[in-house]
Amino acid sequence: MQVSLASERLLAELLRARTGQELPDNRRWRIGTALSGLCREYGIDSIDQLVAMFSPTRQSVLARQMVEALLNNETYFFRDRALFDHLVGHVLPTLAETRAESRTLTIWSVGCSTGQEALTLAMLFASQEARWAGWTISILGTDVSGSVIEIARKGCYTPFQIQRGLAMGEMMRWFEETPQGWRVRERLRRMIRFEEHNLLDPLPALPGGQMPTFDIVLCRNVLLYFDAATRERAFARVASALAPDGWLMLGAGETTLGLTDRLSPERGAPGFFRHAKPAKPRRAAVAPAAIA
Ligand SMILES: C[S@@+](CC[C@H](N)C(=O)[O-])C[C@H]1O[C@@H](n2cnc3c(N)ncnc32)[C@H](O)[C@@H]1O
Repeated sequence: MQVSLASERLLAELLRARTGQELPDNRRWRIGTALSGLCREYGIDSIDQLVAMFSPTRQSVLARQMVEALLNNETYFFRDRALFDHLVGHVLPTLAETRAESRTLTIWSVGCSTGQEALTLAMLFASQEARWAGWTISILGTDVSGSVIEIARKGCYTPFQIQRGLAMGEMMRWFEETPQGWRVRERLRRMIRFEEHNLLDPLPALPGGQMPTFDIVLCRNVLLYFDAATRERAFARVASALAPDGWLMLGAGETTLGLTDRLSPERGAPGFFRHAKPAKPRRAAVAPAAIA
């Protein structure tokens, strides 16, 4: 579908303002594909017409629909499986020891899309039922897009979506067939809460007024299209929400290096990051003068 330069610019600006995501010139080809469904829905045959219907105040529903259509929601179960293997082999055993007293674990899946990432985590815990018996495992999945959160809350998927990452046996184990599709079983769903939230905004405070902190934060394939300043803001939000001894998990190939000084890679664990140790104060080259 043809799109005028003016419409492209308006859409890129709208997307950036609402989500922080950039739509650089070399990705603007996506606009035609992403918005063609909305054009059909509104019964019009050009994106320029769709954009002409938009006014920031009158058509907020349309603005939201356009932004949500432009977001990349690609996700699947056990994406980058090696990272989840590291989580199970190293991170969770450490947390099992350090949180043995409270028996509570909190995890935040940022930019969770339609829920597969949060569900992957729930499957890991449910697979080790005996180990986590008596623990409270709380997984929060958030995304700036209300439409994907709605899908995540429903927890119904097609066999094709499920089999992107899961074998047939796992599908039978974690899902039940319903008239609406294959629904995630209750034992997984009860560990997870899905909320609409923009990573660039503070998380809502807890009922007692304190800010939530998480033992593990996953922020995978969300920051790729932020500019440097927005990425730094996003990392600051994540760092503030991460427990002092917690772990940040990024997507394969993503890093904090050169982007924030608050989080640094964990040695020998690609994809995992921890709070950066504060730089040690340098020893003064000359002894400070004694105070008289
Ligand atoms: C490519 S998907 C990644 C999903 C999942 N984390 C994974 O790796 O499979 C990126 C998700 O980030 C969400 N997103 C983009 N900008 C966001 C923001 N500012 N705050 C929260 N979520 C955002 C998108 O809506 C999308 O669902």
